[in-house]
Amino acid sequence: MKILVTGGAGFIGSNFIHHILEGHPEDEVINLDALTYAGNLENLSIWKDDPRYRFVKGDIADASIVDPLIAEADAVVHFAAESHVDRSIMDPGIFLETNVRGTYVLLEAARKHGKRFHHVSTDEVFGALKPDDAPFDEKTPYDPRSPYSASKASSDHLVRAYHETYGLPITISNCSNNYGPYACPEKFIPLIITNISEKKRIPVYGDGKQVRDWLYVEDHCRAIDMIIRKGRIGETYCIGGDSERTNIWIVKKLLELLGRDESAIEYVKDRAGHDRRYAINYGKIEHELGWRPTVSLEEGLRKTVSWYQANEDWWKNMKSGAYQEYYAKQYGKK
Ligand code: NAD
Ligand code: DAU
Repeated sequence: MKILVTGGAGFIGSNFIHHILEGHPEDEVINLDALTYAGNLENLSIWKDDPRYRFVKGDIADASIVDPLIAEADAVVHFAAESHVDRSIMDPGIFLETNVRGTYVLLEAARKHGKRFHHVSTDEVFGALKPDDAPFDEKTPYDPRSPYSASKASSDHLVRAYHETYGLPITISNCSNNYGPYACPEKFIPLIITNISEKKRIPVYGDGKQVRDWLYVEDHCRAIDMIIRKGRIGETYCIGGDSERTNIWIVKKLLELLGRDESAIEYVKDRAGHDRRYAINYGKIEHELGWRPTVSLEEGLRKTVSWYQANEDWWKNMKSGAYQEYYAKQYGKK
């Protein structure tokens, strides 16, 4: 199978490309990525001379680039997005451009060429849970609350509309918070690990008691791989990590793993509209495709810490340049 991966130079996309090229010797990958601040080709340097891998620099909202690539692919796996909630609060416009219009451009080309389309989405489209609510599942109504989640919800609706209206062979996955190698240190877990290494403060929004359901990225990639090969066309699959924890629990665990005390913790102004809790019931994908998460949170955090310790040049590079301006704006300091 020749797979067009969009956003393959980002966190989850690059993990997915490693997963496919390592696990499926018969597959080929075209990676279409605009290389925004979040994209980094170093993530995939081991494949750069492999005949099964090709990189194309380009914007998913540019039909002249997208059309011929979709024409030659068997399937599209669509990761490319503006993915960070805090940035969407600062500057929503680019989220609409990439996440909504970019997805539309891809869908138009997929429709023209009749190609299989998998859309990677998020549990944030379902809104926020109260402490005693049941976890989100495929029947949970949409209730997005940030510009990021509203843009992802819009793209989910467009993908479904292309299936219902034009019969496009689609699937959608909505997953919880990923962590693991290659995550940009704007995200919570790599921000904590790298800030601890740099002896900086650890910013905890509000009371730190918000809950996320952490999913090791390799488990997520395996789920998407199963969906594109065995998933039922037209269906949505929810993917979760079985690992609900408060943010402050995560901070304390990482401090323990890194052998530091808690003095660096700094409670800061809460995120506007901060969703209190996310959690996923992954019963459907477990029942239909036999998927479940295999990496425990404890094991995943150890692996993640080791990876960031072994790849200091990588994250220092990600934290240089424009990142510094973002950090100063978000946290009020360098
Ligand atoms: P990321 O920000 O690390 O990477 C996004 C990639 O998309 C980057 O390589 C970037 O260069 C590329 N990109 C951005 N705009 C583009 C454009 N206009 N054209 C082409 N490429 C463009 O994101 P991620 O964390 O890897 O997330 C990937 C997908 O998974 C996103 O759709 C996100 O909404 C979804 N998701 C992420 C998480 C998570 O915890 N990170 C959880 C659920 C869903
Ligand atoms: O749930 C899936 C979503 O997870 C994805 O769709 C998004 O692309 C991804 O960015 C992530 O969104 P979150 O907002 O949940 O992740 P983030 O890493 O930004 O924050 C995790 C939690 O930690 C959240 O409750 C906010 C909090 N936080 C985050 C940062 C960056 C802090 O307390 N301090 C911080 O500095």
